[in-house]
Amino acid sequence: MCLKSMTVQSIKHPYNVLFVDDFVPRLTEHIEHGDVVVVDAKVLEIYKDRLLHMLKEVHYIIIESSEKKKSYQGVEPFIKELIEIGFRKNNRLIAIGGGVVQDITAFTSSILFRGVDWFFYPTTLLAQCDSCIGSKTSINFGDYKNQLGGFYPPREIVIDVNFLDTLTSLDFRSGMGEMLHYYLVSGEVDFQRMSHEYALAFKDKSVLCELVYHSLEIKKGYVERDEFDQGPRNIFNYGHSFGHAIETLTNYEIPHGIAVSIGMDIANHLSAKMGLIVQDEYQRMHVLLQKNWGDTCLPDINLDNFFALLRKDKKTVGIEINVILTKGLGQMYKTPLPVTPKITEWLSDYLISFNKSS
Ligand SMILES: NC(=O)c1ccc[n+]([C@@H]2O[C@H](COP(=O)([O-])OP(=O)(O)OC[C@H]3O[C@@H](n4cnc5c(N)ncnc54)[C@H](O)[C@@H]3O)[C@@H](O)[C@H]2O)c1
Ligand SMILES: [Zn+2]
Repeated sequence: MCLKSMTVQSIKHPYNVLFVDDFVPRLTEHIEHGDVVVVDAKVLEIYKDRLLHMLKEVHYIIIESSEKKKSYQGVEPFIKELIEIGFRKNNRLIAIGGGVVQDITAFTSSILFRGVDWFFYPTTLLAQCDSCIGSKTSINFGDYKNQLGGFYPPREIVIDVNFLDTLTSLDFRSGMGEMLHYYLVSGEVDFQRMSHEYALAFKDKSVLCELVYHSLEIKKGYVERDEFDQGPRNIFNYGHSFGHAIETLTNYEIPHGIAVSIGMDIANHLSAKMGLIVQDEYQRMHVLLQKNWGDTCLPDINLDNFFALLRKDKKTVGIEINVILTKGLGQMYKTPLPVTPKITEWLSDYLISFNKSS
């Protein structure tokens, strides 16, 4: 396994990402009297033999991870419980779970008593290869995804890739989708590496671990330059505006990283139609992306609703949609896109033919 570590610089404080082959010893060291462990319900159920004895002495809160729980209304009972049990400013929250547990814990940590420390044990591929670094703390407001939040990094992140053994195949591919977007944005060399190692990642844990580590390395470079996402880091919205619209229109039945895989293909399709990339370049990326969304089908999508969602996306301004297009691998760029009849036709063609070509 890749027992590596890295330090991520942040305006708030630097923090370490530690790769371990067994999370138990580090967790035992982390838990102090008065701390509260926030744990994903499925993770607790699957790993109860290893977790429960550590949780005997400490208060823990179980989260049934869902987009509904990760909302302004959803965190209210969570904060109430913390206050009622006497959680104090010098106590810490220790999150064990995926992106949902992360966002709930990070958001709460950032506002409770003007900020408390938190630690993170990511248990999904998406959280390990992506969301665990970068400081973002987004929660949903009603149906509007990730509209509230700030930037508030944990004190330490501990990654044990053995957690990934128990993910459903769909959640695993969702994480692979998120990881793909880093490798495509990174450029030719990383794209080729991912193309060669994609299938191996499903069966060889040391290959997977190295891919996760490098995904964080790619992200770290941008996060350290632009932690508050005001410039260069925007590039990682590649696939995300279209992806978010798909997630919302399918009521989150298509997981985030699968929707992002399709979203990248849509961005590439528009880029090809606009003459920014040649068809061969589109096809090369399409082969890899299609592997990842597999047999996912899209329901009938009403284009007006699709564009309405793109406009509501927090990354859009006015009536233009703001998207990331590409001039090739490693050459993604942010651009406003006026919704012309041509763009509508290209998108409509894509959505109509999606299920046939999958
Ligand atoms: N803050 C950020 O920077 C950031 C970045 C990307 C995504 N996100 C957010 O992350 C969320 C998606 O994250 P996710 O895919 O980790 O979702 P998730 O936390 O909902 O986890 C997905 C599913 O996996 C289960 N699970 C978790 N660990 C498991 C394990 N080891 N074995 C078996 N099952 C396990 C969970 O119970 C859940 O059903 C979205 O809400 C997204 O907006 C946040
Ligand atoms: Zn994402």
